[in-house]
Amino acid sequence: MNPDFIAWQKHAQAQMEELLNRLLPDGNRLPETLHQAMRYAALDGGKRLRPLLVLAASQVGQVDETALEAAMVAVECIHVYSLVHDDMPEMDNDSLRRGKPTCHIQYNQATALLVGDALQTLAFDLLSRPSGLSAVRQLRMVNVLARASGSLGMAGGQAVDLANVGKAMSQSELEYMHRLKTGALIRAAVALGGLSCADVSDDGLSALDQYADKLGLAFQVIDDVLDCEQDSATLGKTAGKDMAANKPTYVQLMGLNTARDYANQLVAEAISALLPLGSAAGCLKDLALYAVRRSY
Ligand code: IPE
Ligand code: IPE
Ligand code: MG
Ligand code: MG
Ligand code: MG
Repeated sequence: MNPDFIAWQKHAQAQMEELLNRLLPDGNRLPETLHQAMRYAALDGGKRLRPLLVLAASQVGQVDETALEAAMVAVECIHVYSLVHDDMPEMDNDSLRRGKPTCHIQYNQATALLVGDALQTLAFDLLSRPSGLSAVRQLRMVNVLARASGSLGMAGGQAVDLANVGKAMSQSELEYMHRLKTGALIRAAVALGGLSCADVSDDGLSALDQYADKLGLAFQVIDDVLDCEQDSATLGKTAGKDMAANKPTYVQLMGLNTARDYANQLVAEAISALLPLGSAAGCLKDLALYAVRRSY
């Protein structure tokens, strides 16, 4: 990878840790266990791809820093909530996440449910705090994240995933599921970055969205590939879980190599969509390459 990108990525990940540390309620604030569990799930782990996408997309215009920081943390809050619930016994029943015991194992199931509830609402609390953007722009940001998180986005995709355990899905059905369960939040992250800049027009937002749509699908295809190729220590989550649980995945549909080729093709299409945005989209391009070359 481009060494400038690696330095940028490290710096942005550290910035994200600092922002989460500051914006999540303190662990000694009542109710202490809930706040500690929220911090346990959100801090010190993960690649922070979604907040990095918000940041990278915000480079295409004149960003409002307050709105940007809120959006970076908000999208990660929704993502972490989705992981906490995804790992619960009623869903994927996993005990390892980001190299640590999952939230319901470390605490308990009721706490894990509440961690998800509270992280979800914290996201919208943050997005709706005053910033330098117009109220109309901010409302649009709230709407983008809400739609991407709900039954027409992530939560809907998770429902399709659970409803299809043990069933064969066609490529178009799988694509629909992946676009919802993972793609929707990735699209929202990129849109939020563009919307954090008052001067990014609907044409700019549309180019960003074409990029994010391809990237979001590619990201879950690679998640399916890594589940088969990697070990649990590298992934920081249980490897081989999809096959063991009889989940329909791209690997099951087309095999490892074809799935990887498909992800590479989608990322090439994502990068082409950035052309109208010129050199300001440099970090978005590198993030797309990273999404397919990553090892966890
Ligand atoms: C894992 O997401 C779950 C999916 C939606 C594929 P990530 O691979 O981004 O997980 P973290 O945030 O780095 O832990
Ligand atoms: C996760 O899909 C999608 C979410 C919305 C969390 P997976 O179930 O494949 O994610 P991992 O592999 O457990 O991270
Ligand atoms: Mg799952
Ligand atoms: Mg899972
Ligand atoms: Mg997976």
